[in-house]
Amino acid sequence: MYIVFEGIDGAGKSTQIQLLKQWLEDNGFRVETLVEPTDSEVGKLIREILQRPDATTDTVQKTLALLFAADRMLIMDKLEDQSKIFISDRSFISSLAYQEPEEWVEVLNRYAKNPDLLILLDLDVKTSVSRTSGKDTFENEEFLTGIKDNYLRLAENFTCEIIDANNGVNKVSSDIKKAVAPYLGICPDCVL
Ligand code: TYD
Repeated sequence: MYIVFEGIDGAGKSTQIQLLKQWLEDNGFRVETLVEPTDSEVGKLIREILQRPDATTDTVQKTLALLFAADRMLIMDKLEDQSKIFISDRSFISSLAYQEPEEWVEVLNRYAKNPDLLILLDLDVKTSVSRTSGKDTFENEEFLTGIKDNYLRLAENFTCEIIDANNGVNKVSSDIKKAVAPYLGICPDCVL
């Protein structure tokens, strides 16, 4: 199973992925976590470019779209392993939400695997900005409002659970476990 976490910056994806991983392992599943951009050479290049002052220009965004697609192709074979649950921090759905035009981004990602389950951590934009404190170029209110809307629209195309990420860590974690449980044959009422 391939579970993907998406959401605007500061939504708590990495924390929640670790909590879900632990819980799934406690329930006897083998779990591997993934992060996009990855730690490949392409992923390193992406992280460098994201720090540049011109990272939001149209040309650099198009370059990033190509690099993000290449970086994720490098992990696609891994996902064929049926013995594990893969939980990924971001996927091609990030590219659809952040880069444009959408039709072109779709073509670039034609061979990217669709998630079996998308967990969308839905966070208020104001909270996102205060949590991330403008760490990188994408973290401003107007830009993130567009991304949040893109995510909510894109979610309709996937098997998706939308989780309110404005609550505390424990409440969000338990909401995620309850949402994931039925997909794995775990009784949702058994989740604390
Ligand atoms: P992020 O998960 O926020 O990394 P960190 O926790 O180190 O800040 O990812 C970095 C940025 O890359 C984030 O702002 C979203 C962006 N991104 C895209 O624009 N397109 C993509 O396809 C991916 C995977 C990420």
